[in-house]
Amino acid sequence: MSTSALERAEAMEIAQLDALAERFVHKSWLFHLADAKESAPRPPAGSRVMMGEDPRLPPMPDAPTLMDFFKLRLSPSHQHLLQSARLARKNGLPGKMVLACLLHDIAVTGFIRADHGYWGAQLIEPYVDEEVSWAIRAHQVIKFFPDEENGYEYPESYRVMFGPDYRPAGYVARDYEVARKHRWYGSALAICMNDEYAFDPSVEVALEEFEDVIVDHFRQPAEGLGNDSSSSAHMWRTLRRPCNAL
Ligand SMILES: [Fe+2]
Ligand SMILES: [Fe+2]
Repeated sequence: MSTSALERAEAMEIAQLDALAERFVHKSWLFHLADAKESAPRPPAGSRVMMGEDPRLPPMPDAPTLMDFFKLRLSPSHQHLLQSARLARKNGLPGKMVLACLLHDIAVTGFIRADHGYWGAQLIEPYVDEEVSWAIRAHQVIKFFPDEENGYEYPESYRVMFGPDYRPAGYVARDYEVARKHRWYGSALAICMNDEYAFDPSVEVALEEFEDVIVDHFRQPAEGLGNDSSSSAHMWRTLRRPCNAL
């Protein structure tokens, strides 16, 4: 970057922080609860609160695409998604299942870990084939149940993370029983199979490798994710502006 470009960037950053200094940034009550706080800080009387674009975050285009959200909002751990998608393609899965692997943990890398299969499926549901969102929702519960006949073992990483005696919650077992009998069980299992072996910190995969799959299998709204009126548009807007007061 040239000196003048650097100066301009610095000046812009200072202006953005100045704008922020006048605003109180609310945090979701969940943040305070998790930190064992008994009350949330209140904005000083008469102060403005954060609404609209958040100057602390990378700016997004007016009509953001799935790729924009990957690059500007998802955590760096989205490499796990790219690695899973690459493995799925290498294993010969059809394009829509490569997309399913690309998006299977989008909730974890985007906004919430708890019940990530359910949240992630809901987020993408209006824009993908029904089988893709179904498989993403189900992969969360199917991962807990080995299926040796089909070559799927209980993940060693789960044994480490949750302890050897961990048993999934009742709703997980219940939803697994339903998923096990479903015609798309194999698709959710395919996500698990391409998920488990996908963690490799030394591998860097470019999102552009999956541009074709996104174009072919993700119905990008012309007005941009979050600007449309789909049933999950509000979730994309929240990803874009997570600290809006309301
Ligand atoms: Fe997952
Ligand atoms: Fe995963």
